[in-house]
Amino acid sequence: MYHPALYTPLTDLLGCKYPILCAGMGGVARHKLAAAVSNAGGFACLGMVREQPEFIREEVHRYRSLSKKHFAVNLIPAATPAELLDRQITECISLGVRYLAFFWDVDKDIVRRCIDNGITVMHQVGSKKDAELALEAGASVLIAQGVEAGGHVRGDTSLFGLLPEISALSPVPVVASGGITTGQGLVAALALGAQGVSCGTLFLATEESNAHDFHKEKIIRAKAADTLLCYDFHRNWPVKAAVRVLKNAITENPYHDYKHFPDRAIGEQDGAAIYPFSTDSPLKGATGDLASMALYAGQGCANVRKIKSAATVIDDFMRQANQYLDRL
Ligand SMILES: Cc1cc2nc3c(=O)[nH]c(=O)nc-3n(C[C@H](O)[C@H](O)[C@H](O)COP(=O)(O)O)c2cc1C
Repeated sequence: MYHPALYTPLTDLLGCKYPILCAGMGGVARHKLAAAVSNAGGFACLGMVREQPEFIREEVHRYRSLSKKHFAVNLIPAATPAELLDRQITECISLGVRYLAFFWDVDKDIVRRCIDNGITVMHQVGSKKDAELALEAGASVLIAQGVEAGGHVRGDTSLFGLLPEISALSPVPVVASGGITTGQGLVAALALGAQGVSCGTLFLATEESNAHDFHKEKIIRAKAADTLLCYDFHRNWPVKAAVRVLKNAITENPYHDYKHFPDRAIGEQDGAAIYPFSTDSPLKGATGDLASMALYAGQGCANVRKIKSAATVIDDFMRQANQYLDRL
């Protein structure tokens, strides 16, 4: 039993033990990682952005064969063709998925459709305006993302700038996201009005994550200053959106050769070619010039020093938070 401050209403709403979420990470957070997180007391989001409904079905079945705990499916409406998004949502409804976690533009109609079908909607937002839109649409949980975050970054405010603003206006639980990799980070987020945290980078570097080992190894050696917010990885996205990645030859060399040959493949993932500047990060089995791909990482990477099991990560994280609260 940990300090009572570590049990928040969010855990009741999500049906998990601890207020720590594994962020939806496309390709990375699949059934193995999600089940390991939820079986260890956290709450997991299956990263299913742009996946075909058949694949979502397989992943949900595989997850359910490993865990009986609640979970969310993560989708990004703005980065998904409307017709595919429609089929993804239909599939989630028919699978009886109870939680959907959305990101990027708030799509009111999609949120409404989910709510009408009994789904609890969580929405990651990067600004006060998006938070208001998500609340108007009916979201039951807001995930406030600061610019420290790894992957696609929606807003331009630091987590500690954004969190108090969103907590002050939100009648629903707020979760802090971006750069959190320690139990102390959880305590700080709680102090600023959050009821939990959502971590991507921390769980990317676990044994169960589907990220390529190259990516995991890079993260456990990286410091905050090795990450960069840039617009270099935009292929497959509707707009040139900001992403936080580890600096590499692409981000550091404005005259990189790939700029002259953007349509020449630089690698392969599951039989499909990977092109330069793709938003897809290298997953298990990827081959080619991995160092030039999008190696997403948040600014909290300096505290991630070892590749551990997700259960050990959660255990260590919660013990740290507890010790810190006791000391306070
Ligand atoms: C490898 C990676 C992939 C990501 N993919 C997604 C995604 O598919 N959907 C999404 O909503 N967020 C995605 N994100 C962003 C996370 O939701 C979250 O905002 C971020 O991981 C929090 O920052 P942190 O990595 O510092 O913990 C991704 C993040 C990472 C690191």
